[in-house]
Amino acid sequence: MENSAGALIIDTMSKRILLGVTGGIAAYKSPDIVRRLIERGAEVQVVMTAGAREFVQPLTFQAVSGREVRSDLWDETAERAMSHIELARWADLVLVAPATADFLAHLTHGMADNLLSTICLATSAPIAVAPAMNRLMWSNPATQANIATLRVRGVQVFGPDSGSQACGETGEGRMMEPADIAASAFAVLPAEGPLQGRKVLITAGPTRERIDPVRFISNRSSGKMGYAVAQAARDRGAEVILVSGPVNLQAPPGVRRVSVESAAQMLDAVMSEIAGTDIFIGTAAVADYRPSSPADCKIKKVSDKLDLCMERTVDILATVSQRADRPFTVGFAAETNDMEQHALSKLTRKNLDLIAANEVGDAKVFEADDNALTLFWPNGGKLSLGAGAKTELAVKLVDFIAARFNERAARPKIAVVR
Ligand code: C5P
Repeated sequence: MENSAGALIIDTMSKRILLGVTGGIAAYKSPDIVRRLIERGAEVQVVMTAGAREFVQPLTFQAVSGREVRSDLWDETAERAMSHIELARWADLVLVAPATADFLAHLTHGMADNLLSTICLATSAPIAVAPAMNRLMWSNPATQANIATLRVRGVQVFGPDSGSQACGETGEGRMMEPADIAASAFAVLPAEGPLQGRKVLITAGPTRERIDPVRFISNRSSGKMGYAVAQAARDRGAEVILVSGPVNLQAPPGVRRVSVESAAQMLDAVMSEIAGTDIFIGTAAVADYRPSSPADCKIKKVSDKLDLCMERTVDILATVSQRADRPFTVGFAAETNDMEQHALSKLTRKNLDLIAANEVGDAKVFEADDNALTLFWPNGGKLSLGAGAKTELAVKLVDFIAARFNERAARPKIAVVR
């Protein structure tokens, strides 16, 4: 859909998440959870317990969520605006992070002596908890029994992770990282949105091209952009298959990952998943050349110079876009110079529906969490998504792709009469 100025209006779909914060030291990370949820397109209402307020100021949460924080069951003014029952109804998901041992015990026993546990009793939305506590408190049979009971009742338990703890000990009980909590929260929510019922195939990460059994040629791609795009597409209701080169990232919850190494393996994986694909997004930094005859044994340093003969790899994106049953095909262009010119030439040469271009400068963008994207599409379309976190840009990009894809799908087909 387009407005009168010809600009595309993006449909956004927001999920309402009620974030409960209880009194553990990990509460200092909870404002970051709010940010990560909002980045993914959620509306967040924070409810703090009295213990949480000992660790973090409500004002911090108000600033990041843009909503007044609720804490008190007996606050008449706040209750008039939205009662605890209305809050319980408002939420699509109640997420408690950090969830202390005490809060988990309250939840297990159905206590309703504070606003957060009352909301948990009164809600019909799914409940998820991210426990955070000292490792002995976590492994205590009382806590373990409570967690087991909560799981049986359908409460989702995120983590806890293992590692160093604020108390100086090391073990299981650390709160899961904010970005992982946000991703897991979205995976609990029903997959619905503008891509519901659509199959989206995404390539991500670098490829590795073998020189010999112990060496390869690769590039600096971290896969962060592609993984963020995969998560955003899943959050918008799509079935997502992520064909990924070697990266140091967890598969986003709800996304099926197919792991590959080389460009040839990536091509094979894409071709075996392409049938029925509605949207293909090539974010991978696929090697353009590979050693033409990789050695079977480790190459020894016997001479002063070593020449490597390289050959071209197959262009996966162009192969996909040439198919008769081509999906809506989106490419990426990472350029060090003349970004627009190179992006437009790829758009035409590779027969794409859309290309997302970024200036990689000194190539740091590959490993960074931030990026800046400009979109180009046939017949002169151009839109800057600006700069921001890759997760945030991925949401904007997927919303844009969904809008253009659905607009095209809604267009009446023209019958050819002979
Ligand atoms: O031509 P260039 O490599 O700059 O194009 C980048 C785009 O093409 C990216 O979307 C990338 O995933 C895709 N590509 C591919 N197969 C290749 C090379 C690039 O799918 N062999």
